[in-house]
Amino acid sequence: MLKLQTVAEVRSFLQPHRAAGRRIGLVPTMGALHEGHRSLIRAARAACDVVVVSIFVNPTQFGPNEDYAAYPRPLEDDLAACRAEGVDAAFCPPVEEMYSPQAATTVSVARLTEGLCGAHRPGHFTGVTTVVTKLFNIVQPNVAYFGQKDAQQAVVIRKMVHDLMFPIEIVTCPIVREADGLALSSRNVYLSPAERRQALSLSQALNWAREQVAAGERNVATLTEGMRQRITAAGPCVIDYVSIVDADELTPKQRVEGNCLIALAVRIGRTRLIDNIVVSV
Ligand code: PAF
Repeated sequence: MLKLQTVAEVRSFLQPHRAAGRRIGLVPTMGALHEGHRSLIRAARAACDVVVVSIFVNPTQFGPNEDYAAYPRPLEDDLAACRAEGVDAAFCPPVEEMYSPQAATTVSVARLTEGLCGAHRPGHFTGVTTVVTKLFNIVQPNVAYFGQKDAQQAVVIRKMVHDLMFPIEIVTCPIVREADGLALSSRNVYLSPAERRQALSLSQALNWAREQVAAGERNVATLTEGMRQRITAAGPCVIDYVSIVDADELTPKQRVEGNCLIALAVRIGRTRLIDNIVVSV
């Protein structure tokens, strides 16, 4: 596996593959790879001739009081995981390679970025869509893989790809969970053992909502209130949101109908966790 650090290196590595008509898959990541990322890499490996994983902790998607400095960066472990999954090239650029101090251009997606995480993390999605655009232009993949864990991100990127006519197929892979239900996240390493136990309330609240919907409950206020109660009963936390929205447009629902995304973001101690499920009625 090649470790590439510059845009020029990526382009010269991919040029003969593209010329030969090979299918190129990109898995964009911020490193600290876990089984969720590995499921994306496996999906890419199964469907593509050439697999590129980018490992870049993107500064522009972190707010000033967020965890950019603390974000885990176990690069050697990440490269070993990529090697083990049969990745062809890992692209690990330094910040200066991705961002020139003279840059004046960003990419933003309107409307879909206003609610959910967008309402609590101003500028976050512009950071994501700008860096993903750069990665798409550098790698020019045929297909790119994202996790359903970041449900809003996946919807926003699909919209960007459609609106800006990127000739790229977007694949969203299911959330990978621990045996007890906790959604895998690079940020789970921040949790103390007690916080880790408390964090189970998120998937438990979502499962409760799923059962209520299956039993016929359609009232969004009843469902979100029940989820909030279950999360706050588990211990001290700050709920950023517990929302039920249309799964494609991310618009708030009054009643559960069609494809609904049930999504939440909760801060436990210094760790902000997100989780979601999709229900179809
Ligand atoms: O999902 C992530 O890890 C990041 O938001 C992404 C897509 C790699 C962009 O930095």
